Amino acid sequence: MVKIFGEFQLSDGRGLVLRSPRWEDLDELMSFINSLVEEGTNITVNRKVTREEEAEWLAELLANIEKGRTIGVVAEVDGKVVGNSEVTRGTGSQSHVGFLGVGVAREYRDLGIGTRMLKTLIEESRRIGLRLLVLDVYATNARARHVYKKLGFKEAGTVPNMACTKNGYVSVIRMFLELD
Ligand SMILES: CC(C)(COP(=O)(O)OP(=O)(O)OC[C@H]1O[C@@H](n2cnc3c(N)ncnc32)[C@H](O)[C@@H]1OP(=O)(O)O)[C@@H](O)C(=O)NCCC(=O)NCCS
Repeated sequence: MVKIFGEFQLSDGRGLVLRSPRWEDLDELMSFINSLVEEGTNITVNRKVTREEEAEWLAELLANIEKGRTIGVVAEVDGKVVGNSEVTRGTGSQSHVGFLGVGVAREYRDLGIGTRMLKTLIEESRRIGLRLLVLDVYATNARARHVYKKLGFKEAGTVPNMACTKNGYVSVIRMFLELD
């Protein structure tokens, strides 16, 4: 069942719905991730995914949401998926930790969508009892670093040259947010 996390108005007046993902999102989620890859943006995925790969990924995501292991939040504007984000609970001694990822399609950035998705993930993470959120961000990703910092994330440290991109090696910063 689809869960609606919230409905908001964007800075350009359009409506934003934040909801859980569903199987019917498959094609739009594939177009979304492939548009980020094509753009060459600051994410780990660096080659376009096939429909089969996306279907496997989505099936696993939906199963993990069902099991309560993942919180999934998609952003929908004018009935179209324009952003995706998730927090996945760690295992064993890291079961209190949520690993976070977020992305917004290029034409929809700087409208407040990323901030709304992150606030929702933080609230939901607290609600399910997570104590710590962690994420990795490219040192060159000034916008993402700004948004994480604005929401209270702190930088734990930098791993030099951790990502090999088409523009050369990039350092990766681990950030964290304590939820207590
Ligand atoms: C990072 C990302 C998720 C943020 O989402 P978004 O919807 O664009 O973010 P918002 O509109 O909520 O906020 C953008 C903020 O960054 C600021 N910003 C924009 N460009 C900036 C830059 N180059 N340097 C610093 N801040 C910048 C905006 O002014 C705004 O600040 P404010 O909230 O204080 O007004 C989104 O841009 C994205 O998906 N980027 C590509 C993929 C990616 O980088 N994912 C994260 C990987 S760790």
